[in-house]
Amino acid sequence: MRRSLTDKRTSPQATKELAGSWKFYPAGSFVACGLGVVMNALSPELRKKIADYLPRYPSKQAVTLPALHLVHDAMRCVSFEAIREIADMLDLSPAEVHDTMTFYEFFHEEDKPLGKTRLWVCRSLACGLRGGDELLETFRKKLHVEPGGTTQDGKITLEFAECLGACEGAPAVMINDVQRHCVTTETVDALIAELVK
Ligand code: FES
Repeated sequence: MRRSLTDKRTSPQATKELAGSWKFYPAGSFVACGLGVVMNALSPELRKKIADYLPRYPSKQAVTLPALHLVHDAMRCVSFEAIREIADMLDLSPAEVHDTMTFYEFFHEEDKPLGKTRLWVCRSLACGLRGGDELLETFRKKLHVEPGGTTQDGKITLEFAECLGACEGAPAVMINDVQRHCVTTETVDALIAELVK
């Protein structure tokens, strides 16, 4: 039985099946993150950054997660070919890298790349008590996108988050890696205008 690469956490048996169903494209080409057919997933710069991590971790396998973060930040998703190339660098199988990647729901696969800005809206207790749910709903309606989705122009990916560690500034959002505190439904329009510039 072939398994979808978008399946979440896979069993050992499913991981073997996944390895057997890996999708390759001819002559080293592949389709990546909505960019069409390209030749190499990892740029020399990304490869160097991953290689630079190797002496800092006890094993190559331990670099899997940092490597996934580097690639995800740079490419806005982790394509199948990027997974294969990371696996090559770390002496792992692509299925092992894919398994680590899908354990965390943080990473987007190539069929669902991130937009230019990733907007997290906190829905945990402190923010919920101060209007976090209404805030998320307002973003959802104004951006015409469900949490986890990206606007049609590719500019904003809306996500919900658990506590961002900014409870004193509830309701809080995070714009890529930067927190914004005390965001209200009244300031949503201005924030969206800022993000789509
Ligand atoms: S509950 Fe939202 S930042 Fe803590």
